Amino acid sequence: MKNIAVIGTGYVGLVSGAGISDFGHNVVCTDIDENKIKRLQSGEIPIYEPGLQELVSRNVQASRLSFSSNVNKSIKEADVLFIAVGTPEGENGASDLSAVLEVARAIGNNLNSYKVICTKSTVPIGTGSKISDIINKSSINSIEFDYVSNPEFLREGSAVKDFLWPDRVIIGASSSRAFDIMKNVYRPLYINETPVIETTIETAELIKYASNAFLSVKISYMNEIANMCDEIGADVHVVSKAMGIDGRISPKFLHPGPGFGGSCFPKDTKALVSMAEELGTNLKVVESAIEANRLQKERMVEKLYTLLKNDVKDKTIAILGLAFKAQTDDVRESPSVNMISALKNDGAIIKAFDPAANDNMKKIFEDLDTNTSWEETVKDSDCVIIMTEWNEFRGIDLSKLKELVKDPNLLDCRNILKIDDLEKLGFNYDNVGRKKR
Ligand SMILES: NC(=O)c1ccc[n+]([C@@H]2O[C@H](COP(=O)([O-])OP(=O)(O)OC[C@H]3O[C@@H](n4cnc5c(N)ncnc54)[C@H](O)[C@@H]3O)[C@@H](O)[C@H]2O)c1
Repeated sequence: MKNIAVIGTGYVGLVSGAGISDFGHNVVCTDIDENKIKRLQSGEIPIYEPGLQELVSRNVQASRLSFSSNVNKSIKEADVLFIAVGTPEGENGASDLSAVLEVARAIGNNLNSYKVICTKSTVPIGTGSKISDIINKSSINSIEFDYVSNPEFLREGSAVKDFLWPDRVIIGASSSRAFDIMKNVYRPLYINETPVIETTIETAELIKYASNAFLSVKISYMNEIANMCDEIGADVHVVSKAMGIDGRISPKFLHPGPGFGGSCFPKDTKALVSMAEELGTNLKVVESAIEANRLQKERMVEKLYTLLKNDVKDKTIAILGLAFKAQTDDVRESPSVNMISALKNDGAIIKAFDPAANDNMKKIFEDLDTNTSWEETVKDSDCVIIMTEWNEFRGIDLSKLKELVKDPNLLDCRNILKIDDLEKLGFNYDNVGRKKR
């Protein structure tokens, strides 16, 4: 059993900390956000993530998991430190490493015994040596440590499952002592025979970006194929199903939609392109995926305007879904942000509802009129837009919806509603690559 500190208690830090405590270790999740730590200490989970409440409660009750805003003390008391702070988009698309480097300085200042220092945050290639240099410079006693890159692949919405049963674990290190300690941290996964890739620090750092950028390319590609389907009247779902049966392609990430968002793909693709530029190599495929994604978000706005014959001023538009995907409250880079901005600019009256993300979207648009049910949101509206694929929107009774709205205009950016029903009920509708001609 190890004493572990997870520094940064956000989506990744909280799930990882709770997951590692479930593996049997003593974990403290620490953060400079005192309010967040207070809420966690009082039993409140500050984010929406299925299964997280149970995982946290179980391990707090077993005295394996605690929360602290004293980052320095948490560092001193731990054998293994996980860095899980944010790495948002910085200048020219490069990663903003200020929080990671600040943590590195704090680690150096508080290094009191040998520790493994492991980065879970997504950081550019070469960040491992930067962190090690900072720790060496700020540590007064020249105490030994090992640096490890252990990128995280959990997905918001299924983060608990992804952490406890990952497809693979990547460990980049340069000493056998560090590999052995990480093996001990992830012991239950080794026992389960989860594939573990042991590699160099730089390779581990690149694997994370290469994976996220590949998935982003897949999404953008399918979105562009969907746009072709729009033009020729083909059904993109049949196209993607047939493509996905091919083992070389795989059926995952072939679902078209309003463009990718969230806290990872948009910034990680840009950061990878920025790294390639610095190295003097080309990443034209990823550059195109980024541009295609920007256009896809714009295309959803254009589709809406076409549906309403460019007449949106003073029209009441009901937006169902604000999160960048279902099962999360995260609205970072969500396609809904683009839609709301455009409609606000053009004088539409917006009513919105998300089962988990209303509060987060109100941090971006303070005056957003948010509602607590889809029925209340669509009532007397001139148009309904499905922006997020929540199950409760999949199950919408379209006859009831038609009775509630003023005008039956509907844009389904997630292709979750039955086209035959929309046709039968006489909706003026559009979707992404599935409209009947
Ligand atoms: N969110 C995801 O789905 C996901 C998945 C895989 C990897 N990642 C990567 O993991 C990292 C964290 O992402 P996130 O979504 O959890 O971010 P987040 O914004 O939810 O959480 C970051 C936390 O770090 C804290 N923090 C900032 N500076 C700190 C400091 N000096 N000391 C202690 N705490 C500090 C913040 O207060 C915040 O609570 C990023 O690099 C991200 O790219 C995210």
